Amino acid sequence: MSAVIETHDLTKVYKGISKAQDVSALTNLTIEVNEGEIFGYLGPNGSGKTTTIKLLLGLIFPTAGLMKIMGESNITSPMVRKNIGYLPEGAYYPDFLRGEEILRYYGSLYGMKGANLKRRIDEVLEIVGMTRARNRLIRGYSKGMRQRIGLAQALLSDPGILILDEPTTGLDPVARKEIRDLLIQLRDQGKSLLISSHELLEVELISDRVGILFEGVLQTSGTINELLASREFTINAEAAAPEAIQQVREAGLSPEDSVAGSVVLRVPETMSLYDALEICKSRNMKIVSVAPRRETLEEVFVRVVGSAAKGKEHIEENPK
Ligand SMILES: Nc1ncnc2c1ncn2[C@@H]1O[C@H](COP(=O)(O)OP(=O)(O)OP(=O)(O)O)[C@@H](O)[C@H]1O
Ligand SMILES: [Mg+2]
Repeated sequence: MSAVIETHDLTKVYKGISKAQDVSALTNLTIEVNEGEIFGYLGPNGSGKTTTIKLLLGLIFPTAGLMKIMGESNITSPMVRKNIGYLPEGAYYPDFLRGEEILRYYGSLYGMKGANLKRRIDEVLEIVGMTRARNRLIRGYSKGMRQRIGLAQALLSDPGILILDEPTTGLDPVARKEIRDLLIQLRDQGKSLLISSHELLEVELISDRVGILFEGVLQTSGTINELLASREFTINAEAAAPEAIQQVREAGLSPEDSVAGSVVLRVPETMSLYDALEICKSRNMKIVSVAPRRETLEEVFVRVVGSAAKGKEHIEENPK
């Protein structure tokens, strides 16, 4: 698989008026986005997602490190630029323009014109479902409509790479689903997508690979399957006596769901499955089934970011 976006030890320090006011927004970031995949770029507020995106677009310059796009280190070369579509965070457009006018303006920046531009505008409006609203003023657009025009703008030059900074923020569930389907469709057409987001379920649903950032440092990355790989098991069991459930709880198993003596027990990561089954057996429980328990991306995120934050507190409390 070939990488269309690569960063190596990418570092960005925003300089303040004094050294004490410098902000280390990104530290030694090494990531890859492969051709034809959706890469979900996650992290809490202020963790450096937009900074990464701006660096990749050449809107700001790195303090250190390397970037390559389509194998090219000159990331602002016309060949690279033409092949990247970008949806900025909270895409704002002048209120007094019409949706179609925005697209005509951006098209002209790409050097598109005449019948060619008109045809492409028709196409992208159709793709994002904005054909009917094309002649309305942006002022009268809802948040979702603005976001769709933003996406249409990102798609104008039919780029192979899409970099989308929070594409579904502020959208209602139906619009969210529509945009999600559109992103999957674009991926299936062979495009490569880097998407920053706070919507963990959404990212879990559409991403092939994910990276989690905290305070400018990549905490983990991998395929969705690697990250959510089962670290725990659940045991589905039947308890003859009601007190058995309380007893297995005291022995370290967590009952998640129990109906009329039938109970789902979560085996903690720290306990072996064998020991857990022994506990059930010793309380005369009948084992119905055992299944690996996949984590949700939200659980992984909270665990990874939580332990990074804790590690940091520890360093601050005990400086060397
Ligand atoms: N132009 C700037 N000058 C100084 N500091 C900045 C600048 N832009 C961003 N920062 C700081 O860099 C850090 C990373 O910000 P960034 O916008 O990249 O985060 P983010 O992950 O996109 O956050 P959010 O989820 O809120 O969009 C933050 O501490 C932010 O305050
Ligand atoms: Mg951001």
